[in-house]
Amino acid sequence: MEINYQETSKDLLTRISIHEKYGARDIDKWTIEVLDPKPGMTILDVGCGAGKQCFLYDDFTKGQARIFGGDFSEELLEKARAAAAGRGANISFSFMDFNKRFGFDESTFDLVSSAFAIYYASDLRITFGEAHRVTKPKGRLFVTGPLPENKKMFYEIIREATDKPIPPMPGSSRFKVEIFETIQELFSNTQLLTFENPITFPQVAPFMEYVRASLSEDRKLWTSMFNGPEQYANLLGKIESVAATWFKRDGKLVMTKVVGGILAVK
Ligand SMILES: C[S@@+](CC[C@H](N)C(=O)[O-])C[C@H]1O[C@@H](n2cnc3c(N)ncnc32)[C@H](O)[C@@H]1O
Repeated sequence: MEINYQETSKDLLTRISIHEKYGARDIDKWTIEVLDPKPGMTILDVGCGAGKQCFLYDDFTKGQARIFGGDFSEELLEKARAAAAGRGANISFSFMDFNKRFGFDESTFDLVSSAFAIYYASDLRITFGEAHRVTKPKGRLFVTGPLPENKKMFYEIIREATDKPIPPMPGSSRFKVEIFETIQELFSNTQLLTFENPITFPQVAPFMEYVRASLSEDRKLWTSMFNGPEQYANLLGKIESVAATWFKRDGKLVMTKVVGGILAVK
């Protein structure tokens, strides 16, 4: 299955900043509790985007781990490199397409991670086979992604606004079963951990900012809902009006992120 997915740097950073501003919990803290990365480790983050997880590992190990981030978006890689230079962090950010052979020798990494990215892989056996190949024996894989219950309120508002079925989201529809099972076949001790983070929007405006950063025309997943700028504006207007009704009724808008973390050992 070929998944046509494109993330813009602005949309990704907007969503990260909204999670940080209005979320009750901190996914970074959870990631560190689960992984406890140690100085001296060699770590690869696949689909690293603007480098969020790489910087987290680097901060936690006080710059003492050897960290690599790979992504196929040159725009996001540039952001990551600029942020690394600004912090004086020695992290290697380079192009990688996780649908192809990973450009690393086998048994290179103590930890291979991927946050909200690798589940877009076209052929899970190839991608996770590569993740397995580059992981050291006894090294770990940690993959996070949305569970089917993720962002229920967000999808309900859109369904009410459009009266249309929500397009299947490749992440949540594959994560718990297909992806878990593929990892389980290749690795050992595979377990599914869960992280829940209620995001409370104190007004309709930041919720709409989140909607825009999720549905903008650059994100190809939503195109069944609109065609061109006019229909996009129309759709946003309908979503805003439903969100305003919900907000009036409940006094707030709460969208819970329900994240799965698949942890496995080679
Ligand atoms: C939702 S973002 C997550 C980024 C980062 N892990 C984070 O948590 O901020 C998904 C990332 O996957 C990357 N991506 C999607 N398909 C890819 C592919 N085939 N190869 C490498 N990266 C890919 C995108 O460019 C984007 O940076």
